[in-house]
Amino acid sequence: MDDTRKKLIQILLEQNGNFISGQELSKQLNITRSAIWKHMSELKKEGYLIEGVTNKGYRLIDSPNNLSPYEIKLGLQTKWLGRELMFFEQVDSTQTIGHELAHKGNPHGTVILASHQSNGRGRMKRYWDSKAGRGLWFSTILRPEQLEPKKAPQLTLVAAVAVATFLKELNLHPQIKWPNDILLDGKKVCGILTEMQAEQDSIDYILLGIGLNVSHKREDFHVSIQNKATSLYLHSKIRHNINNLFQNLLLHLEKQYEIYMAEGFSVIKEVWESFALKYNEWVKIKTNKTFLGKIIGIHEDGALIVVDENRNEHVLYSAEIFFGEDV
Ligand code: BTN
Repeated sequence: MDDTRKKLIQILLEQNGNFISGQELSKQLNITRSAIWKHMSELKKEGYLIEGVTNKGYRLIDSPNNLSPYEIKLGLQTKWLGRELMFFEQVDSTQTIGHELAHKGNPHGTVILASHQSNGRGRMKRYWDSKAGRGLWFSTILRPEQLEPKKAPQLTLVAAVAVATFLKELNLHPQIKWPNDILLDGKKVCGILTEMQAEQDSIDYILLGIGLNVSHKREDFHVSIQNKATSLYLHSKIRHNINNLFQNLLLHLEKQYEIYMAEGFSVIKEVWESFALKYNEWVKIKTNKTFLGKIIGIHEDGALIVVDENRNEHVLYSAEIFFGEDV
C-alpha cells in the first residue's frame, strides 16, 4: 500500500468513526481533493467501509480484518511492549529478523510481527505453519536485566501463562502442555519458542516467538496436523478482530513479564500449574529414552518434574509429552 494511503487510513482511524472533511484531508496530506477521492475508491476495493457525505466529508465505518500496524498502535495499552513495532507482510521467520535487530541493538520490548512467514520455526527445528493472515506470528526482543541465563527457560512459562490468561479472558478453557504448547480441547492453538543470546553469566537478549492460530479453517492446516491443531475460529466459531486480539495479547504478556520480574517465578509457577494439562496422569515421556511417567510439578527453574513407574523422580529440561492418540 502506498504511503499516502497508509496515512489516510491512519487519519480516518484517529477520527473514531466521526467525519473529517475532504478539505482537511487534502490539507493534512498535501494532495488534491480528487486525489483523495481516488485513494478512497482504492481503499473501498481493499475492504474498507467508508462513508462519504456532501458537506460532511468522509468517515471510516469498518476495516478489513487484516493486521494493521496503524490500528494496533492506535489502541495499544502497553507501557513498553510493542511500542517499537515492526510489521512485515511477509518474512522468512520473525525470529530471524528478531535476531538481526537484537544484534543491531534494538531495545527491550521491540516486537516483530508478520502477516505471513515462509519459514516459520518451531521447537526442535520443526516447521511452523504460518499462513498469511491466519494468525499472529510475532517475536519479542527481551533484555531482562539481572536475570541469570539459567533462568531464561522460565520466560517460556511466563509467556505460556500470559497466553493462557488471555484466552481465559475470551471465555475459553486453555490448557498448557509443558513447556510451550497451549491447547484448546486437546488441540494446539499456540506455540512458543524461546531463543537466547547470552554470555556465561549475563543475558544479552531473549527472543520470545509466539504463534497463535486465529482464523484457520480445518482445511487450512496441513493434513498431517488437522487432528492436532486448532484455531480460535475453529474452536469457537467467533471471528475476532485480529488487531484487537494482538493488542490484548501484548498487554497480557507485558503484565505477566512484570509480575515475574517483580515477584519471581513462584507466582507464575502457581498459575502455570492451574492450567497444566495431564497433571498426575500417566503420559508417555520422550527424552533420550521413552518411558511412562506422571507430571508432578514444575521445578523452580522451569524444568518439568515427573515420576516414573518405579517412583523415581526425574527433573527434565527437554522432553516431549505424548497422550491420547499420540501415545
Ligand atoms: C512450537 O510450538 O514449536 C513453537 C512455535 C513458535 C512459532 C512462532 S511464530 C512467530 C515466531 N517465528 C517463528 O519462526 N517461530 C515463532
